[in-house]
Amino acid sequence: MITKQTRVVILTGAGISAESGIRTFRAADGLWEDHRIEEVATPEGWEANPQLVWSFYQQRRRQLLEVESNSGHKALVELEKYLDNFLLVTQNVDNLHERAGSQNLIHMHGELEKLRCQECQHIESMMEEEHLGEEFISCRQCGARLRPHIVWFNEMPLQLPEIEKALTQCDVFIAIGTSGHVYPASGFLHTARLNGSHTIGINLDPPENVYFFDEFFQGKAGEILPHLVQRWTEE
Ligand code: APR
Repeated sequence: MITKQTRVVILTGAGISAESGIRTFRAADGLWEDHRIEEVATPEGWEANPQLVWSFYQQRRRQLLEVESNSGHKALVELEKYLDNFLLVTQNVDNLHERAGSQNLIHMHGELEKLRCQECQHIESMMEEEHLGEEFISCRQCGARLRPHIVWFNEMPLQLPEIEKALTQCDVFIAIGTSGHVYPASGFLHTARLNGSHTIGINLDPPENVYFFDEFFQGKAGEILPHLVQRWTEE
C-alpha cells in the first residue's frame, strides 16, 4: 500500500512517548503530573503563578535528561528514510522524535527545549544545566522574563498553514498515541479524509475519533509500529 512515492503525514501524541516513561495527559484522575491543566497550561495560569508554572516545566525539562527514544520513535525514522515525501507533526513537547533522528518534524505545541521572551518573543534554545534550575531566566535581547515555549490552551498552535497544506496533499495520514480530544490536531483526520487520503490510527485505547479511521490498530506504538514500518518498507 505504501511506496516510496506515497505522501505520508503522521500526527503523534503523548502515547508515543509513554513507553519512554513520560506520562500521558488524560490519565484517569484528570490531573497532569498532579496539577490541574488550567494551573500549568494556560496563559492565565502563568500570569497568576509564574513560579509554579516555571517550576513545572523546568521539571519536565530535567526529565528529558532521564528518558530515551523508544522503538516507536525509531520506526518513524526508518519510515521517513524510506519515503520521498514525509511530514511528522507532533503534539509532544519532548525532544524524543529528534533524538531518534526524525528530520522533517513540526512541534505544533512547542518545545520544552526552547524558551520564549514574553515581551519581544525572541526564542532561545537552551538545555544547559544552569538553565534547568528553579530561577527565572532573562531574555538576552531585552532583559524581560522568558516563558516556556509551549502552546498553552487558548493559544494558537504553531505552523498550522504548513500542516494544513501537507494534509490536503497527502495520500496517507497516520495518527499515533493521541486521544483525539484536543482541537485542531483532532481535526487533522477529517481534513485528510476530505482530501481522499487513506487514514490509519494506532493507539492503546480507541480514541474519540476512532470510527473515522480506515484502519485502526489497537496496542502500544512501540510494539505495533516497528512491524508495520517493516511491512510498509519491504521492497
Ligand atoms: N502506544 C500508543 N498509544 C498509547 C500508549 C502507547 N504505548 N500509551 C498511551 N497511549 C494512548 C492513550 O490510550 C491515549 O489515547 O495515547 C493517548 C494519549 O492521549 P492524551 O494523554 O490525551 O495525549 P494527547 O492526545 O497527546 O494530548 C493532546 O492535549 O493537554 C494537551 O497540549 C497537550 O499535546 C497535548 C494535547
